Amino acid sequence: MIQYKKINGSFDMTGKTALITGGAGGIGEAAARMFAGKGARLALIDMKDNVDDVARQIAEEFKTEAIGIRCDITDVEDVNRVVDAVMDRFGEINVLSNVAGCVDLDNAEDIDFKLVENQMNVNALGPFRLTQRVANEMIRQGKGGKIVSVTSQAGFIAIDKHVGYTMSKAALIGMTKVLALEWAEFGINVNAVAPTVVRTYMGDRAWKGKVKEDMIEAIPAHRFAEVDEIAAAILFLSCDESNMITGENLVVDGGFTIK
Ligand SMILES: NC(=O)c1ccc[n+]([C@@H]2O[C@H](COP(=O)([O-])OP(=O)(O)OC[C@H]3O[C@@H](n4cnc5c(N)ncnc54)[C@H](O)[C@@H]3O)[C@@H](O)[C@H]2O)c1
Repeated sequence: MIQYKKINGSFDMTGKTALITGGAGGIGEAAARMFAGKGARLALIDMKDNVDDVARQIAEEFKTEAIGIRCDITDVEDVNRVVDAVMDRFGEINVLSNVAGCVDLDNAEDIDFKLVENQMNVNALGPFRLTQRVANEMIRQGKGGKIVSVTSQAGFIAIDKHVGYTMSKAALIGMTKVLALEWAEFGINVNAVAPTVVRTYMGDRAWKGKVKEDMIEAIPAHRFAEVDEIAAAILFLSCDESNMITGENLVVDGGFTIK
């Protein structure tokens, strides 16, 4: 059962340990900062070498505990090593944010199969492997938990050249629903956040020149999203204020997918 807890709109995360993938930059780092501001302890994992520096800066700035561990989420041994390390350091994991991801765009008739496979691995299979391991820790802990994955508007609508990315994000949306159904009995909420284009390394790489201008024109809000706007949605789904929401894919798209 997912317990009712009295809430007051503070989005408090005091005493919670959050594991965030992709925490060394972009949306993951923004979510880490927002969690830290609400009192969470952090374990950031990322393929980037600077992940521990990012964790240290956040710990200092927000006067909290944070560690950063280099990890490739597609490597099962790496994932197990990292979860063991986080459990050793903090004793439990209460919140998991699956933010790490990658994109490679090409026409469906031309795209290299390896690029499709890699997007499936990084955006769907890796997150499942980590989520399965972390959820087992949450079930053992017996205190419930919060799991939020960053999907994409491309996970449920068709966008030119996005075939591999869409396949992977549609899989992540499907995963979210099944896990929400199965793990509610353990008090675990499983949700997702589906952004439109966000101004990050990934967003800038995928949207340039005319396609960028056309996309901004097509979004009713007439702009791309900023990282803190996505982090705020992740925070909402990671604290008690959203306890009655599970299996949701919260769209943050400035209205792009209304029609
Ligand atoms: N930026 C956008 O326009 C946009 C739109 C919709 C969804 N998203 C999703 O948001 C999430 C975050 O993306 P972002 O925009 O912050 O991009 P980003 O490139 O700034 O951050 C992605 C992070 O994931 C890490 N990463 C990639 N592969 C990894 C792996 N195998 N193991 C561990 N870490 C790995 C990278 O090192 C990087 O720090 C992604 O899942 C992305 O698909 C982004």
